[in-house]
Amino acid sequence: MILGDSGEYEFLTEAVELSKDVDGLLVEIGLRLGMGTKTIIDACLQHRPGSTVISIDPFGSILYTCREADGPIRLDYTNDMYKQVMLSMSEYVIDKNVNWVMLKMTDNEFFNRFAYSFPIYELEHIIYTKYAMCHLDGVHTVHAISDEVEWFNDRMDSGATIVIDDCTPDFFDIEPINRLFESLNWELYKQGVKKNIYRKL
Ligand SMILES: C[S@@+](CC[C@H](N)C(=O)[O-])C[C@H]1O[C@@H](n2cnc3c(N)ncnc32)[C@H](O)[C@@H]1O
Repeated sequence: MILGDSGEYEFLTEAVELSKDVDGLLVEIGLRLGMGTKTIIDACLQHRPGSTVISIDPFGSILYTCREADGPIRLDYTNDMYKQVMLSMSEYVIDKNVNWVMLKMTDNEFFNRFAYSFPIYELEHIIYTKYAMCHLDGVHTVHAISDEVEWFNDRMDSGATIVIDDCTPDFFDIEPINRLFESLNWELYKQGVKKNIYRKL
């Protein structure tokens, strides 16, 4: 079963629609049981069929900061959860016009390994260097999220969108991240109770 652990998933739908004419891949950092990625995929089918959606998540119950004040802990993001979500997501995408790619690694592994390009194989070998939309829902620290924002900003064109989950003081302080976006020429397009949408100007 594809499940979520948050709210305002419609913000992901909106972010995909907003960036539908922007060249590039779509990414979710932090897959868990799939609801974020599924929502992005559904929006792609509607607004940009044939897109590539990448989910990045190491699973393996590695040390993980869910709430910045609590520091790193181990949660139930196990390798068994990975097997479960691979089954349910594979079943979901099997007959759909989307290229779903699961990368079982951390955000930093992804950034290091794919700093220059990401390969897609669809009859041809296509090299992607751009991203259109991203959902940041992995490590909930100002440091980790700032690194993610800077990495994607370098690879995104005007009109691209980033959604951040759990933007409330009990998870982490969103203010430094808002300031970072502003300094990079992004607008806070929509502020929710859980999620924020940012758009590159
Ligand atoms: C809050 S859950 C994601 C929830 C999911 N996006 C949803 O909407 O249902 C956080 C996920 O981040 C993953 N995670 C932990 N450390 C990570 C890292 N360094 N990079 C990427 N993902 C990470 C965890 O394994 C976990 O599955």
